[in-house]
Amino acid sequence: MTNIEKWGENTKAVHVGSKPCPATGALVSPIYQTSTYAYESTEEAGKIFTGEKFGYLYGRDHSPTEIQLEEKIAALEGGEACKVFGSGMAAIANAHMALLKAGDHVICGDVVYGGTYGLFDKMLRPFGVDVTYVDTSKIEELEKALKPNTKVVHIETPANPTLRITDIKEVSKFCKAHNLSLVVDNTFMTPYLQKPLELGADIVVHSATKYLNGHGDCIAGVVVGSKEFIEKGLHEGVTKIGALVSPFTCFLVKRGIQTLPLRMEQHINNAMKVAEYLEAHPKVEKVLYPGLKSFPQHELAKKQMKGFGALISFEVKGGLDKARQLCDNLEMIELAVSLGDVGTLIEHPASMTHKSLPVEERRASGITDGLVRLSIGIENIEDIITDLDQAFDKM
Ligand SMILES: Cc1ncc(COP(=O)(O)O)c(C=O)c1O
Repeated sequence: MTNIEKWGENTKAVHVGSKPCPATGALVSPIYQTSTYAYESTEEAGKIFTGEKFGYLYGRDHSPTEIQLEEKIAALEGGEACKVFGSGMAAIANAHMALLKAGDHVICGDVVYGGTYGLFDKMLRPFGVDVTYVDTSKIEELEKALKPNTKVVHIETPANPTLRITDIKEVSKFCKAHNLSLVVDNTFMTPYLQKPLELGADIVVHSATKYLNGHGDCIAGVVVGSKEFIEKGLHEGVTKIGALVSPFTCFLVKRGIQTLPLRMEQHINNAMKVAEYLEAHPKVEKVLYPGLKSFPQHELAKKQMKGFGALISFEVKGGLDKARQLCDNLEMIELAVSLGDVGTLIEHPASMTHKSLPVEERRASGITDGLVRLSIGIENIEDIITDLDQAFDKM
């Protein structure tokens, strides 16, 4: 019997959940594009419906393509089980809906993806869930926010877009001491670069739209955790809420993950070089990249992450106008939100993703007018730097 747990990351990414089709021998398993399933007899159907025998029930529950993808992701994250959703937000929302009930309290990082604030403030608060936002890199802030009804801590590390790092091991000790569940959004790192479950987290969530798929051609999300949480806590909810993912999307993400380790190596090697280039550039005020010695939490990054990721935030000298000029002058690098694609993307939070926030609030959370975020792709490094160079020169 093959011991999958002992396989290396590349092998897991390629082989787990990827078996030839048992009916035809097709090397690549087909996309099971069906809404429902036929049974031999009412007796067999009965066993499947009561869980006595494994079988497929209905397209809103799961599909064979989805289950193959879930096996692959669970193996890479080192989790017992995984559930895939129609988007990263659906994954985050379902994880919290399974963990919380009216009257509970959540502590959430104060720098997280905008949709996560929206979920807590616009959706869960009206259902009676209280939330406090704190700097989760400081345990004393978590202690201050703790209430008798606190049930969950949600962190994103590195956080979007300031790249602030939270010590997962430390926060997990705090959570265990107070009987709280720790949810970590691992989107920026991927399981290749950071394994929150090994560091003590209970649940990992991802926007699979990003590096897991890696090719910018679908939207998906995942939750990884214990078998009990995924099967009892989560699966029940998903089927009722209907936040399902299509078999075609599962196929795309599954195919994308096969090259995740290779892509991540190229992403992080390129990112380090771009960060060094930017740090030395006279038109750049400061660079935020966990791999740079100048990054305030560089030592923690070295301890917690296998690589420093491929997101770089930097401040252009001259503020809003100059940052916008830089973005508008680029020729190969695309101006687009999202991240983790094979191609390099740039975004200017003050004019795009964070434009609707009040200016003072935005600046207080470190998102200055001149801040620009790069998601470094896997192109040849010379071409990324040449494009940035010509854009700076034209400014
Ligand atoms: C860190 C992080 N988490 C979650 C999400 C939400 O994912 P999705 O867009 O797949 O719903 C995003 C999206 O950008 C993100 O950056």
